Amino acid sequence: MGILFHKEEQLFQIITPNTEYCIKIVDQRYIGHVYYGRRLEDPRCGYLLRTAEPPFTPSVNQREKGGFMDSFPFEYPAWGVGDYRESCLNVRTEAGYRGCELVYEDYRILDEKPGLPGLPATFGKGQTLEIICKDPVIGLKVILCYSVFDDSDAIIRSVFLENLSQQPLYIEKVLSACLDMDAEEFDLLTLNGAWGRERCIEQNPLSYGKHGISSVRGESSHQEHPFLAVMERRGHQDQGQVYAMNFVYSGNFLAQAEKSQFNSLRMVMGIHPEGFEWMLEPGKTFASPEAVCVYSDQGLGKMSRIFHDLYRNHLIRSPYLHTKRPILINNWEATYFDFDSEKLIAIAKEAKKSGIEMLVMDDGWFGNRNNDDSSLGDWQVNEEKLKGGLKALTDSVRAEGLLFGIWFEPEMISPDSRLYKSHPDWALKLPGREGTLIRAQYVLDLSRPEVVDYAYESVASILRSCDISYVKWDMNRQLTDVGSIYLDSARQGECFHRYVLGVYQLQERLIQEFPDLLLENCSGGGARFDPGMLYYSPQIWCSDDMDPVERLSIQEGTALIYPLGTIGAHVCDCPNHTTGRTTPFTTRGHVALAGTFGYELDITSISKEDREQIPEQIRLYHKYQPLIREGDYYRIGSWRETKKYDCWQVVSKDQKEALVTYVQVLTEPNYRSRKLYLKGLNPKAEYRLEIEDQKALKKRADEKNGNVARRLLESDGQVYSGRLLMQGGFLIQRLEGDFQSLLFHFVQV
Ligand code: DGJ
Repeated sequence: MGILFHKEEQLFQIITPNTEYCIKIVDQRYIGHVYYGRRLEDPRCGYLLRTAEPPFTPSVNQREKGGFMDSFPFEYPAWGVGDYRESCLNVRTEAGYRGCELVYEDYRILDEKPGLPGLPATFGKGQTLEIICKDPVIGLKVILCYSVFDDSDAIIRSVFLENLSQQPLYIEKVLSACLDMDAEEFDLLTLNGAWGRERCIEQNPLSYGKHGISSVRGESSHQEHPFLAVMERRGHQDQGQVYAMNFVYSGNFLAQAEKSQFNSLRMVMGIHPEGFEWMLEPGKTFASPEAVCVYSDQGLGKMSRIFHDLYRNHLIRSPYLHTKRPILINNWEATYFDFDSEKLIAIAKEAKKSGIEMLVMDDGWFGNRNNDDSSLGDWQVNEEKLKGGLKALTDSVRAEGLLFGIWFEPEMISPDSRLYKSHPDWALKLPGREGTLIRAQYVLDLSRPEVVDYAYESVASILRSCDISYVKWDMNRQLTDVGSIYLDSARQGECFHRYVLGVYQLQERLIQEFPDLLLENCSGGGARFDPGMLYYSPQIWCSDDMDPVERLSIQEGTALIYPLGTIGAHVCDCPNHTTGRTTPFTTRGHVALAGTFGYELDITSISKEDREQIPEQIRLYHKYQPLIREGDYYRIGSWRETKKYDCWQVVSKDQKEALVTYVQVLTEPNYRSRKLYLKGLNPKAEYRLEIEDQKALKKRADEKNGNVARRLLESDGQVYSGRLLMQGGFLIQRLEGDFQSLLFHFVQV
């Protein structure tokens, strides 16, 4: 394991526990991608670059250099000198010329994983390969970085630029990673969606041309996600080669797979070049965000587990990462803007009786905010709603025995606010244009240090004033009119990226000053659920749609990359506020258990029957949260594909226990049981089955049509071998009715 350089072969090997990545220098100049896949451990693999075939390398066949440039598998392709595929780098000189050719110069192997100033970055014990190259004509130095950790099969890539010339260079495009390989029969996988249905999996055959997803919305977005994978056509959860990339960044991105004329495939990922330009002054450097590359030879399931472990072990820093998070109740869907201290205290009192541990006060507690038309930026408590101020409320909630959490949207400004009246130029704006409103609000210009300071103090001063354990950091609109009066004309193209750096700086300051704070990021639901934000907060609100049926697809797509413990999930009231659907309270609980778990309903007014189920759900949370948070995730069946049911499983790292969640979305007119094959168990171990929600099942068993419930109860305590459950299968009774769910706990005996 580790990083090696074979001088004779001019070949770098980057070796992780199960994978290998090889790079070769040819003509002492070009940096070529040789191999990525299962461990090879043979430095003679350089012939895979095909340089012994036409068009050969330029040192052999200079007259066809163009053919070489357009077919060679480059580690980091630049624009303008013959490679017409998607480039990673485009630089304009002071004289206005574009074109760049990178020449290999040297390398360094570091016994560490350096951080990235101002940007989120993976960390931990590992090694880094730095390949140093230059364009001597324009005076640009480029360092290609590849980092690996001892315990992970991920490879982390980023790029550093340095201007060695005497003139400014204008970086029009700088992506973070490229992966060139042969285009086998691949499917392309992306995560797409909209508000209320974020990160749904899309899988399509990869055809010729460029197939990209991107965001130019200033955030990673509801619509498309900074993730891209190609999978062998016959691949599935457990089988097939998968190459995936995920971007550790929360702003504009481009992720693209391109099948070329020669049947080669180029995957790229990085900051979207649209609207981007960075003026690199002489002697200055620019660091690109990190892109994570993962190869799996056992389908999507293994890919997910590599991402999950990487993020748990090498990205999330929060002290809450490995602890049970307080079970919260949030008042948003309970009250929207219509609340006061009395109402919140009533919710807190009732919540406490059921075992809930924290009250979160959502939007509407400040300025004159009685709807979403006003007051963003005026972070002073509305004492008409909160009589006696925030301290009086937090003290009362604490006296009830609950922790207190609060909502902010620090990046925004309402035109109807005192802040806007005094600082209209603090909003992102284009001169001469009226800014485009979204949800009646503008975005603060976080490229300006004084605006960042104001936003920070708005949040920090409130946190300093009372006993607050949790912050929900929201962002409810995407960026438009991206211009800053703070930046001069040559730097307007930096505004999008500087905005993101401003957000990162704000959150970094917050977690440094309040190290015990539990921070949950949010963006109109889950529009900024990305690895960048996970560096600052251990959990992110996944979607405003809490309907458990909708959540199946949303959470499946999210869990394709992110550990379950990061997925903000609450039990809502019914009919659901987004879809109007009514589902059993138990199912809402089971689906929320596959995330952070909490409540978002008016506990004082829901039915007695639902309320009485809360203590049992909370017992399940306490019992299973460590397993769900730390365990290995396996997808057994996907509603997206089955059109009938959904099923996932979490297995403890020591394989001593496993929890299977099964949701029968639609009833079928056929009452034979369904056979499902469990995964990840120890084949030689024996497991005893524990059926959860027995009280409810017993009630159903006593009813006239209680056969299914009776059979389920009879199976409680049955013992199976791991091999039998995985190879023979496990039978799940067909349940009566739509949207029913069950939890099966297998404990090694
Ligand atoms: C969007 C969030 O996703 C909701 O949970 C809620 O906090 C609203 N914003 C408040 O405006």
